[in-house]
Amino acid sequence: MRLQDEVFVITGATGGMGKETCKRFLEEGAYVAAVDLNIDQLEESERLVPIAADLTNEQDVVKVFTKANQTFGRIDGLINMAGIAQSATPIEEVSLKDWEKIISVNATSLFLTCREVVPYMKNQGEGVIVNIASISMVRPRPGLNAYIASKGAGVSFSQALAIELAEHGIRVNVVNPGPADTNMLSQFSSRDADIESTKESIFKKSVPLGRLIKPIDIASSLVYLCSKEAAIVTGSVLNVDGGRGI
Ligand SMILES: NC(=O)c1ccc[n+]([C@@H]2O[C@H](COP(=O)([O-])OP(=O)(O)OC[C@H]3O[C@@H](n4cnc5c(N)ncnc54)[C@H](O)[C@@H]3O)[C@@H](O)[C@H]2O)c1
Repeated sequence: MRLQDEVFVITGATGGMGKETCKRFLEEGAYVAAVDLNIDQLEESERLVPIAADLTNEQDVVKVFTKANQTFGRIDGLINMAGIAQSATPIEEVSLKDWEKIISVNATSLFLTCREVVPYMKNQGEGVIVNIASISMVRPRPGLNAYIASKGAGVSFSQALAIELAEHGIRVNVVNPGPADTNMLSQFSSRDADIESTKESIFKKSVPLGRLIKPIDIASSLVYLCSKEAAIVTGSVLNVDGGRGI
């Protein structure tokens, strides 16, 4: 048990990677506050409390951490997995509304959740935060302009917090997934693309190790980064991408 009795807030918990991460964290002995817009599919248990929230809404975010703390009595870690994709779109066709929505969900939500969790962690004198960005911010794909900008902001923000919070014993790291086999992957294609063939011909082929990333690959990297094995790791960006970023 690498996370025995530690309390984690995991966002995007209903999603492909989020669901697997909640499962792995429970297997490692953690308590989980599982946060998503829609929590119908999340089963409450002694160790898992589902919390419905829109992470772009300031009041919702405050409620998430109040409820997690009331339920479990402390908060040791935050994993920001919630995100939305962008279908590949030429820049001149991207509306301001779409740009702002992507930045809001993928970047501003990190600011809101981190701002809320840090006081709990400072009180305890320790804590761990992992924000999920994307290998596309290292190796961009055409047309994902707003998405890639939002993920780049997530990485810079995480490193800014890593240096700011180190003296409080709070570690902040990033995982950059490569193309992963979840519902989101199909949403990166241009609107008129054949999704299944794009998955094979573009995404899978772009991974040097020859397969799409699985939710368990991401969950395993998160167990490591949140465990005591990574006690001296902060400000790092771990590419879990089969070599796509090389
Ligand atoms: N799938 C990929 O190929 C891939 C590649 C690189 C990075 N990522 C990143 O990994 C993370 C997880 O992606 P996934 O593949 O599991 O996607 P997913 O679509 O399966 O899950 C994303 C989850 O985020 C939730 N969410 C969206 N907006 C929200 C909001 N405002 N408030 C609360 N919850 C919200 C959704 O409801 C969904 O359950 C995302 O940040 C994504 O950008 C994914």
